[in-house]
Amino acid sequence: MIKANISRARKFLTDQEYIHAHSLAKKGLNDLRQRTGLGSERLGWRDLLEKPNLDLLAQLTQLGKKIHDSVDVFIVCGIGGSYLGAKAVIDALKPPFTPNGPEILFAGHHMSGAYLKDLLLYLKTSKADGSRKSVVLNVISKSGNTLETALSFRVLRKFIHEEFDDAVERIICTTSEQDGVLNEVIEKEGYQKFIIPSDVGGRFSVLTSVGLLPIAVAGISIEELFEGAVSNYKLLEENADVVLEYAALRNALHSKGITIDIFASFEPELLSFGRWIQQLLGESEGKDGKGIFPAVAGFSTDLHSLGQFIQDGTRSLLETFLVVDQVDTQLSVPSGFDFGDGLEYLEGDSFHSINSKAELGTIEAHCEGQVPIVTIHMPELTAKSIGALIYFYELLTSIFVYSLGINPFNQPGVEDYKKAMYRLLGN
Ligand code: PA5
Repeated sequence: MIKANISRARKFLTDQEYIHAHSLAKKGLNDLRQRTGLGSERLGWRDLLEKPNLDLLAQLTQLGKKIHDSVDVFIVCGIGGSYLGAKAVIDALKPPFTPNGPEILFAGHHMSGAYLKDLLLYLKTSKADGSRKSVVLNVISKSGNTLETALSFRVLRKFIHEEFDDAVERIICTTSEQDGVLNEVIEKEGYQKFIIPSDVGGRFSVLTSVGLLPIAVAGISIEELFEGAVSNYKLLEENADVVLEYAALRNALHSKGITIDIFASFEPELLSFGRWIQQLLGESEGKDGKGIFPAVAGFSTDLHSLGQFIQDGTRSLLETFLVVDQVDTQLSVPSGFDFGDGLEYLEGDSFHSINSKAELGTIEAHCEGQVPIVTIHMPELTAKSIGALIYFYELLTSIFVYSLGINPFNQPGVEDYKKAMYRLLGN
């Protein structure tokens, strides 16, 4: 179960401000549930939890396991909502140094030729035993014509076709049912295809095959992830107070001049989850001159870069801590050696307890620096909790954005850079 403690931020608001924002959030929730809000044709991310497609889940689990057990490198080629969700879940749950299944690499999320060149070189380099790396490529693009993804796919597709006789089996495409040039390529080549439902927007698509296949390939249980999301969906359908209060708080603080929300965590595994939230909120709320800019920080690392500003700079910040209540790593500060480093007072303490005290100390200091602080708690770092957190933020995003009077499910502003870029590229 996901909990939110808003008390440290609530005190910046009068009762009247909060109550008014709460009534807007309630209306937002009602519009969402009754499908009467803006963009209500894009609520498939809720429907897929209301009526889970168990056959698809089983198919993705099976394929994921097959790839996990047989491949050296799995490349996810996508941008924005087509890769951030998978990366968030994989980084949160896959131990970084324990070999388990294929290396998961990302491409198609920028246009750096240097990166692609180096990636190709790496893919072509033999393994330690002299054999060739086995590579599978998953290209993910709902529109099927995003330039960053399409260009990288062109390079990687050529590589796969040149290197592997069974190239067609090594390329998996995740896209919309029929739109976009990628569908023409799939038809021409006969690649395996998974469909992104038309009523699920990119940034809400992590619990479709967009996120689920890469996550399953990483050896993470997508059944548990999904179960966590479904149980939180059911819980919040019964009682959404926790999300309503959080949405109301954000809205009221925004009305009082808060323009930046820093999503911070003392667990480095959650840095990519922060980036997923950043896109989910950023693309949903940043319209019509409104919205709180979502920033991401990893603590305590970024206390040594952003800490000064947060403590003492322009007071327009909200800070949201993603907290894992129980961490099961029991590494303690070692003793039994003449260290001479003055850290004897910490000998035997677990790193988790030290990290938690750093977190508490930071919260205390930033409160004194007049920063409104929200803490979001998940009981532990498991697939189930992450699934629950995904739905929590999807719901928060839609209710909060509705309460601003904005459509959460479109992104008209993203088109502007594309238009300018295509003009310069001569298209
Ligand atoms: O949330 C969104 O819709 C976007 O971030 C898209 O996911 C992103 O632009 C990639 O688009 P596509 O999947 O069509 O390549």
